Amino acid sequence: MSSSVVFIRGGEVVGATDSIYPKLNLLGHAQLVEVSVGSQCGGHGVCGADRIRVVASKVGALSPLSDVEFKHLDENEIKNGYRLACQCFPEFEAPDLVIQVTLR
Ligand code: FES
Repeated sequence: MSSSVVFIRGGEVVGATDSIYPKLNLLGHAQLVEVSVGSQCGGHGVCGADRIRVVASKVGALSPLSDVEFKHLDENEIKNGYRLACQCFPEFEAPDLVIQVTLR
C-alpha cells in the first residue's frame, strides 16, 4: 500500500495523493490533486479558512500545532482534530502511511 493524503468531503473521497511529501503542507497536498480547502490567503497563515479535520493518521505523522493554529482554532476544534492545512506538514513518509482529512 502506498502512502497518501486522502481528502473526504460529505463522506466521499474527493482526492488522494499518490504519495506523502514531508516538506509540503497539507494545503499543497490538496492543490496537487486539485482539491479546494478554502484557503483565502494563499497559505500565509492569515485567513484561518483552510480548516481541515484529521480523521486518521499515525502518532507523530504530522507536525505539532503551530502558533498560527492556536490563534485561529478554539480548544474544542483542537480537541476534535482540526488543523489549518497550510500549517500542517507530514513529518515523515512511510509506505503504509495514510492521512485522511475531512473538508467542509
Ligand atoms: S490558507 Fe489562510 S490560514 Fe491557511
